[in-house]
Amino acid sequence: MSIRIRTSAFALAVAVGLVSAADAAELRIAAGDTGDALVLLREHLDRFEAATGHNVTIVPMPSSTTDQLAQYRIWLADRSPEVDVFFIDVIWSALLAHHLHDLSEAAADVIDQHIPEIVASQTVDGRLVAIPYYTDAPALYYRTDLLEKHDKTPPETWVEMETTAAEIMAAERAEGNGQMWGFVFQGGLYEGLTANALEWVASNDGGTFIDEEGRITANDPNAVAAFDLASGWVNNISPPGVISYREEESRVFWEAGNAVFMRNWPYAYALGNRPESAVAGNFDVVPLPRGSMGTGSAATLGGWNAAVSAYSTEPEAASELAVFLTSEEIQKDRAIRNSFLPTIASLYDDPEIAEAQPLIPEWRQVVENAVPRPSAVTGIHYSQVSQEIWTAAHNTIAGRGDAASNLAELERRLRFISARGW
Ligand code: GLC
Repeated sequence: MSIRIRTSAFALAVAVGLVSAADAAELRIAAGDTGDALVLLREHLDRFEAATGHNVTIVPMPSSTTDQLAQYRIWLADRSPEVDVFFIDVIWSALLAHHLHDLSEAAADVIDQHIPEIVASQTVDGRLVAIPYYTDAPALYYRTDLLEKHDKTPPETWVEMETTAAEIMAAERAEGNGQMWGFVFQGGLYEGLTANALEWVASNDGGTFIDEEGRITANDPNAVAAFDLASGWVNNISPPGVISYREEESRVFWEAGNAVFMRNWPYAYALGNRPESAVAGNFDVVPLPRGSMGTGSAATLGGWNAAVSAYSTEPEAASELAVFLTSEEIQKDRAIRNSFLPTIASLYDDPEIAEAQPLIPEWRQVVENAVPRPSAVTGIHYSQVSQEIWTAAHNTIAGRGDAASNLAELERRLRFISARGW
């Protein structure tokens, strides 16, 4: 299309034109149900419908990226036209690429607004398989009231985090607050645990399990030391249930006021400040701690992107929807209301976003330094690779085998998967 698509709903309506009733498309969009994300998505879809005349139905997906991928793979393997637009995790672009429509043309006028590395992560063999929707890099959430009361500062290392968590937890329990724990994170058997484990290891200068050239580095001594530290958390500073927690379980636990620290993504920032949260106004965020042998904090790079199914019967309308949902207007609203990190670089300097969610301008640097998971180099093998990583991490935190033997086993298994190359 030669008309330049602008980013306001009004301009979109002018550029695309309201379709006639006969041309109105019925679209279905699959989206994870995390926090109140689907409520805001519905509002945005209403704007799209009003501007274009198309209709869009949400197909709610589980919050877990691992569960979403399982469902997506069933649909896509069946070449099912069931869903037109998907939100795909940043790590799934290579795996799903051949099932996705090339959006290069549809997004040609707007793609340069986005952070180039994110665009690159969604470009597979020269095809833009998804348009960036939001980026993600986790934080260490801490209770400002509790740290102040117990005269502590936010920790810079994981060891300090553990010590501070244990001290405050013990003091609070001694005062009768029997529900208090020190640290919640994502310890369930799924992708989120891979993201957590990568942070323990990378922040201890222990590599990223597989390096950028595809070499397997899982059994690094610094990685072993990092896993060893994490092996002491469950039942000590972390509640026993943490070994099945995903993002939402951690957030609910945290919002009930029962943890000193939480590792979570920025979406939990806006939600934690809602009136119904017991910690509203009583928490802040800092970058994740670093390992004692490491030189700096490491945040796993996350994020989601809008993709159009190659089996959609309405690829044009679906592409318009993907362009609309990733536009500056929508990203700004999502940043202000739900603290999602934009992928449009200029929004990090937006004063209204900074005012509503001070985390966002502060987080630009964290995003820039975030550590990618080894998904690009392992390509279609990544889901298997990640499953091995989260299994090793889970065994370690749940007390099945020690850090050294679990990482030695991980290294063996990764070698087996890569036997014929990545
Ligand atoms: C967040 C991230 C995503 C990651 C997932 C793990 O949704 O954006 O990249 O894979 O968490 O649970």
